[in-house]
Order: sequence, then structure tokens, then C-alpha cells
Amino acid sequence: MNKKLKVVMTVKLPDGVETRFRELFNTTLWLNKDPMPREKMIEAAQTAEVLVSSINDRIDADFIDACGEQLKMIANFGVGYDHIDVAKAVEKGIIVTNTPGVLTEDTAEMTMGLIIAVARRFVEGAETVQRGEFSAWSPTFMMGRRIYGKRLGIVGMGRIGQALARRARAFGMQVHYHNRKPVSQRISDELEATYWDDLDQMLSRMDVVSINAPGGPHTFHLLDAERLAKLQPHAILVNTARGQIVDEEALAHLLRGNKIAGVGLDVYERLPGINPELFGLPNAVLLPHMASSTIEARTDMGDRVILNIKTLQDGHRPPDRVIPAML
Ligand code: DGY
Repeated sequence: MNKKLKVVMTVKLPDGVETRFRELFNTTLWLNKDPMPREKMIEAAQTAEVLVSSINDRIDADFIDACGEQLKMIANFGVGYDHIDVAKAVEKGIIVTNTPGVLTEDTAEMTMGLIIAVARRFVEGAETVQRGEFSAWSPTFMMGRRIYGKRLGIVGMGRIGQALARRARAFGMQVHYHNRKPVSQRISDELEATYWDDLDQMLSRMDVVSINAPGGPHTFHLLDAERLAKLQPHAILVNTARGQIVDEEALAHLLRGNKIAGVGLDVYERLPGINPELFGLPNAVLLPHMASSTIEARTDMGDRVILNIKTLQDGHRPPDRVIPAML
């Protein structure tokens, strides 16, 4: 049997997943629910053979320079790797892995939920009842917007974008999308999806826009103030991908000026430091980055991380390697 790898976690995982880590590897857990501070992470990267990271960790060039020669792999607990300087890691011979595929349905489910929550005013309605302010039905009370028959524009038609499109079809929405390239004919036919090469044109014609693109330098402020201004006054914007894709200040400004109908956000440009202009608005449904947070997804994500580390421990190439060509 191969020697157990020394694995250090920078993030608290579900108990069952941690038990399996302890069985399979020489594991040091991180039991605090707050993320591991940077100094501790640098310390860990000088002794660990595998670091299990998360989106909370800034794994930039300086961090990678500070990693010891013994570090073989950064196994990210999550699909997005925009917080990792993958090119620099690979240059130093460190493998980077992620957890693709296993949180697709959960994220799409939450995105669809957010679309409906904003359009049909779920949070406002629920809070009204909780405050004891509901005493009689009225035809003019809590009128939202129908999503059936409306145009959904998906920005980023990867796995999650496509899973959202399937759900949107089931709700009677028309699917439109912008992507670096069109999806295959088979998928396009299945989703009856319309491809927009020009993002500006798509934005100006949609009723609902959902951001499902990966984060990173290519998509930073893809929806800047100028682009956001193309949205129609009745449009709803939903983002469950990465906060940095949208200029949050410009978005808050639009919303405050009633230039769009509502937003559903699960991600923010800076943490901590959500733009306070977004707070207190009835048409902003704000969630705490929980789109993939189901027991099932978290367990499956843990399994993917374990599979990647175990494969390395057994002397093979981990299946979910992120390579610079993917950036
Ligand atoms: C992901 O997997 O990238 C989620 O956003 C959580 O990090």
C-alpha cells in the first residue's frame, strides 16, 4: 500500500466527509467554521503534500511562491478556481484539481428558485406574513411578474447554464444565451435555445438575465455600468456565479433608480463588504453564497476531492486536474 499523503484542510467539511479523509490520508482537519487565516495557510503549505482549499482562500502568486517543495497538489473543494493562480501553480509543478459536475443541478435549482423568488416576490410576501400584516386577500396585493413565456438570457452556457435552461424550459420560458461559442446542435435543439454572439444585444432584449459564467480575469465586470444600462426597466438580473462578473456599485445604482425590476444575488463582488446600497430594497433577494449548498452536493464534492487525492496517492493522475489551457 502506498504511504498516506499528508493532507491539510483549510476548510471545515461535513463530518462524514472528514471521517473518510481521516481513514484514507494523514489528515489535519480545520475545525473552525471561519476560513483558515493566510499565515496559517502558508504554514500549512510548507508541510502538507496536499492542501484542500476553498473559494475563501486567495491562492495567488505570492502564496504559491511561499509553498514548500513538498506540496504536490491543491485540491479545491468547489468547481470555480478563479481564486487560484493555476498557471503559476502548474509552473511550480503543483497539480490543481476542482470538483466539476457534482454541484451543477443544485446550483441550477437555486438559480431557478431565485428567478421565481424575485419575479413572484417570495421574500417580501413571506416577511409580510411573518410580521403579522396579512389579514385578507386582495387582488392588487403583491403583484409580481409572470415568468411563463418570458425570455431568459443566460450569460455562460456551460454545465450550469444548460441545467438552468432545462429548468427554464419546464417553466415555459424561452431560452437565449451568450457564450464564447455556441453549444452543439444537439443541445441547442433540445433547449430550443437562441445564441447571441453580441452580449449587448441580448441584454437589451431579455426579461430575465442569469449569470452562469466562470469568474476570473476574462469575465471581470463583463456586466459593467454601460452593459447593465442596456437592461430593460422590467428586467430581472440573477447571479449565482461570481460577484466580480457584475459591477456591483453600478447594479445597486440601477436598482435604486428603478432602472431594472429586481435582482437575485447569491454572490458579491467583495467579501466581506457587500455594497450596502443593495440592502433594504424589497426587490433585491440576497442570499449568502448557498446555491450549491445541499447535503448531497457537499457530500459529492467531498467524494470528488477524495477521489482526486486518492488517485494521486495511488500513483496516478487525478481526474479533475485544472490545466492552463482551460483558463
Ligand atoms: C464553487 O464550487 O465554485 C462554488 O461557488 C462554491 O465555491
